[in-house]
Amino acid sequence: MEMAKDCERILYTKEEIAARVKELGAEITRDYQGKNLLLVGILRGAVVFYSDLARSIDLPLKMDFMSVSSYGSGTESSGRVRILKDLDTDIRDTHILIVEDILDSGMTLYNLMQVLGTRQPASVKIAVLLDKPARRTVDVKADYAGFTIPDAFVVGYGLDYDQLYRNLDFIGVLDPKVYEKD
Ligand code: PRP
Repeated sequence: MEMAKDCERILYTKEEIAARVKELGAEITRDYQGKNLLLVGILRGAVVFYSDLARSIDLPLKMDFMSVSSYGSGTESSGRVRILKDLDTDIRDTHILIVEDILDSGMTLYNLMQVLGTRQPASVKIAVLLDKPARRTVDVKADYAGFTIPDAFVVGYGLDYDQLYRNLDFIGVLDPKVYEKD
């Protein structure tokens, strides 16, 4: 792929991602038998993972999306989330699975859990493709996590740098030359 040259190394190949997403889908399928499931995708980074994960879950499910931006200092656990696009669905008594590309400082998901928790859902859980525990500033854990990664600048499979690289079909570490020149 054209943009692959900007990566200094590949962290997970297309095949490795596909195999792991399939495992997560099977796990979710077992856990949500007989439950009304709504997959909530967080724009934009999650869209690639979301579409693959949804197709590996063998259950009736509904889809919805939110767009948010976090603000407040990373160490402030009362940080808030600004909702740029809210759900179109009433989630009362519904089992919510939030789907995210990466759990980094944790601010986004921590705040989102608070917001969705006030709407009387049956449950709220988190599925992330990548978990970067080294950067965590608030206490939030993923219920389903694809890979635990080191503190490196990763792109691809939905993750961007300056809005680019989201369409790489692998996850790579961006060559520092790319952002050092900016
Ligand atoms: C990224 C990612 C998560 C969040 C994780 O989103 O998609 O939403 O950051 O970081 P945190 O754990 O430190 O909160 P970003 O704001 O870059 O937007 P994007 O999804 O449009 O790329």
